[in-house]
Amino acid sequence: MKIVPLIPDNAPFTVEQRAWLNGFLAGVLNRGTPAPGSATLEEKQPLLIAFGSQSGNAESLAKRLAREASGRGFAARAAGLDSLQPADLVKDKNVLLITSTWGEGEMPDNAISFWDSLNQNGSSPKLEGVQYSVLALGDMNYGDTFCLAGKNLDKRLAELGANRIVDRVDCDVEFDDLAKKWSSTAFTILSGKKETVAADEPEDACFSKKKPFQATLLSKTNLNTKGSSKDTRHIAFSLAGSGLTYEVGDALGVFVQNCPDVVDSVIASHGFDSQSEVSLPDSGSVPLREALMKHYEVRHLFGKTPKVGLTLAAFIENLRKLQPRLYSIASSLKAHPEEVHLCVAAVRYNKEGIEHKGVASTFLADRLALGETTGLFFHAANHFRLPSDLTKPVIMVGPGTGIAPFRAFLEEREATAAPGKNWLFFGDQKRDTDFLYHDQITEWLKKGTLTRLDTAFSRDQEEKIYVQTRMIEAASELWHWLEQGAHLYVCGDAKLMAKDVEAALHEIIQSAGNKTADEAIAYVAQMKKDKRYARDVY
Ligand SMILES: Cc1cc2nc3c(=O)[nH]c(=O)nc-3n(C[C@H](O)[C@H](O)[C@H](O)COP(=O)(O)OP(=O)(O)OC[C@H]3O[C@@H](n4cnc5c(N)ncnc54)[C@H](O)[C@@H]3O)c2cc1C
Ligand SMILES: NC(=O)c1ccc[n+]([C@@H]2O[C@H](COP(=O)([O-])OP(=O)(O)OC[C@H]3O[C@@H](n4cnc5c(N)ncnc54)[C@H](OP(=O)(O)O)[C@@H]3O)[C@@H](O)[C@H]2O)c1
Ligand SMILES: Cc1cc2nc3c(=O)[nH]c(=O)nc-3n(C[C@H](O)[C@H](O)[C@H](O)COP(=O)(O)O)c2cc1C
Repeated sequence: MKIVPLIPDNAPFTVEQRAWLNGFLAGVLNRGTPAPGSATLEEKQPLLIAFGSQSGNAESLAKRLAREASGRGFAARAAGLDSLQPADLVKDKNVLLITSTWGEGEMPDNAISFWDSLNQNGSSPKLEGVQYSVLALGDMNYGDTFCLAGKNLDKRLAELGANRIVDRVDCDVEFDDLAKKWSSTAFTILSGKKETVAADEPEDACFSKKKPFQATLLSKTNLNTKGSSKDTRHIAFSLAGSGLTYEVGDALGVFVQNCPDVVDSVIASHGFDSQSEVSLPDSGSVPLREALMKHYEVRHLFGKTPKVGLTLAAFIENLRKLQPRLYSIASSLKAHPEEVHLCVAAVRYNKEGIEHKGVASTFLADRLALGETTGLFFHAANHFRLPSDLTKPVIMVGPGTGIAPFRAFLEEREATAAPGKNWLFFGDQKRDTDFLYHDQITEWLKKGTLTRLDTAFSRDQEEKIYVQTRMIEAASELWHWLEQGAHLYVCGDAKLMAKDVEAALHEIIQSAGNKTADEAIAYVAQMKKDKRYARDVY
């Protein structure tokens, strides 16, 4: 029997909305079979998948799992922790939380206010009746702080009376398989149905981390001049033929290779045969040298005395998969169609008498030649976006390679003829040798694209002058911009700079805005909530 749809094809809905509505109405009126994945309202279990995410991993995972849960008959939604209050957990009842860890064991920015509300002295919310589980994303390289934000969140929810339905799962950088098992178990328990094997998401037709685009290196320019102690490169890749696009604020994932000298030295010190066939991290096998060049992290073994009697199989078993590195995109597609640009500082340091070099940054700076290709993918940074209202003022704080996304922002503001004011704080070691993008920045200042520029060259004088020194000097003007609705962005070093800049912001709000310390905290928290204070720090 053909079922006549209740919502006609010409009704003003998308195909998905129409399918859902037809399914829903059919269910309510007990008429015909609901559309796939659209059980009747009574049958649908609510499910909130909440995420704490800085650079987008937890966010995209939460959104993907919410789609999957909807397909399994849940009334599922994904939401950032910045849009939630603890009381929302009580309303939604079934809650899966996914959070990364940032800084040194800290909550990602969008989870801070939620975390604070869970810890309010004396007025902690009661979470009895909430069924929950936590998936923690992290990186084992961080040692003691591995997945700490997720661990803390999990513990606190239990303390407040929520019922843990599945044990927390802590994930290292490769989180896909663990996330799949965790979500599958949680969906099964929450639905009360027998376990069903989750269908794999249909493979993306376009390029992704799983299927990177092989991009050609177009150009590589040294942004420091002779005499500098730094080595920062402007790097341009071609996207021609990929159909790929990105937004300013996004990051680029770059697949890289280890340095052949490091690989050869590790093989020689272990006495292995470089042609021996070894297993790859996912599947298949290749000769040892190729495996160590392209597939495994080996930098931590460089210069170290190998364990006596270590077999090749045990050696390989202990290695971690070589990870692609993220870089903030330094270009706008509007200014450079079919290209993506980066600003990369080559990491080189001496430790215990041995010269070390960063894998990815020196792969890009030293080893990848013009015309050669490497795998790229885009990593969306929805938290780090220019204001959609082009009239809003923008304040950018980006010392060192922190300038990268702001070159992209300024190119975008210029290309869109955005009428809003733009203020850049830039700093590095010495004006003569380290003024990255000097010509382009001074040109923007001349043309008025850049309303104001403040520079802080830390090693041009006895005392250190940093970007936050300049912010404090300009406190009353900065406060005036904030009160005009300016969006404030910070990019660069996470360990020291980003914290010191935040402390300076509090100081400015107190002194120029005439606020108490608590009022300044509330002001900054509100800016974060309104998405007027965003950080891209690493
Ligand atoms: C969202 C995001 C955006 C980023 N954007 C940029 C960007 O625009 N530009 C940019 O240059 N980088 C950026 N980075 C950092 C980048 O991803 C890499 O981490 C950086 O290039 C170093 O990678 P590497 O492979 O060269 O170094 P690795 O081989 O990973 O080595 C780095 C490690 O070496 C050790 N180390 C480094 N210096 C020292 C030292 N002085 N003493 C002792 N040990 C040391 C530390 O253990 C450090 O973790 C970004 C990171 C993120 C997450
Ligand atoms: N702690 C770390 O491990 C660490 C810190 C920074 C950068 N890095 C890495 O080093 C590479 C190069 O970094 P980069 O080119 O982006 O530049 P950078 O090293 O961050 O330096 C840029 C400018 O910031 C100044 N700076 C140092 N401490 C600061 C603070 N607390 N507040 C404000 N400014 C401060 C530096 O001054 P001085 O150098 O003169 O002090 C310099 O003038 C990157 O790969 C980055 O990840 C690591
Ligand atoms: C600057 C920085 C600091 C980090 N600090 C930690 C940490 O302390 N502990 C940890 O387990 N992982 C840490 N990580 C790893 C992230 O948690 C991990 O990359 C995660 O997948 C990021 O997810 P997100 O994109 O949703 O924020 C850190 C990553 C960066 C770039």
